[in-house]
Amino acid sequence: MTASNRVPIIGGNWKMNTDRTTGIALAKAVASGVASLQAQGKKVEVAVFPPFVYLPAISETLCAAGSNIALGAQDVYHAEKGAFTGEVSVGMLRDVGVKTVLVGHSERRHVIHEGDDLINLKVRAVLHHAMRCVLCVGEKLEQRETGQTNTINERQVRLGLRDVRPDELDRLVIAYEPVWAIGTGKTATPQDAQDAHRHIRLVLADLFGKDAAAGVRIQYGGSVNAANAKELMSQPDIDGALVGGASLKDADFLQIVSAACGG
Ligand code: PGA
Repeated sequence: MTASNRVPIIGGNWKMNTDRTTGIALAKAVASGVASLQAQGKKVEVAVFPPFVYLPAISETLCAAGSNIALGAQDVYHAEKGAFTGEVSVGMLRDVGVKTVLVGHSERRHVIHEGDDLINLKVRAVLHHAMRCVLCVGEKLEQRETGQTNTINERQVRLGLRDVRPDELDRLVIAYEPVWAIGTGKTATPQDAQDAHRHIRLVLADLFGKDAAAGVRIQYGGSVNAANAKELMSQPDIDGALVGGASLKDADFLQIVSAACGG
């Protein structure tokens, strides 16, 4: 597999935003825009990640629209069930229509202080239940400034994917999101992002072999918007975007989706 046959994948991470009414309206608008792009023969996969409590409502909205947008969850807990107050299992997510789960988002790592061991348990639980897992990795500003970008990404990828089996890789997406670029309006240059993606793909090749690594999609995230999306996604190892702020405005998000399929 090469860059030219990895189908681009765009995620809209709504974080702790929207309410029921605005979330439904956003999902409807995005579903209709994505449907018209796909009707023009554009190849792109799209997922939206609403807050947990709105998942059933957004699931119904997407189903009613006949949309193939994947419903995503922003996090999960790895245990199947039990005394884990406040947590939600993979099975519960599946029950309300979730198809894809973010794990290790930078706000989980650095605001909620999740470590690599917990992240690895979550990755394995999601993949084990045959769902798509988006493992998020990325360096902080001081780590970039001290030349540690590749070391940090490599460590997060290796620890996050510990004991993942090669046959589970088709359900894995990596999101490279430099922490300093998230929600700040600062974006990695297309070349810096490409260099980080290339290194992540080399790590995947070391873990799983070159062919398997070539099939894994690596999204870029961090202040992606309608203006910068095209250039970022034209890089050979950038296979889409994980979008926060700009995913809350349907027109902006749809322009990013369109940029991913060359539009
Ligand atoms: P941002 O967020 O686009 O608002 O920078 C990206 C993310 O956190 O996934």
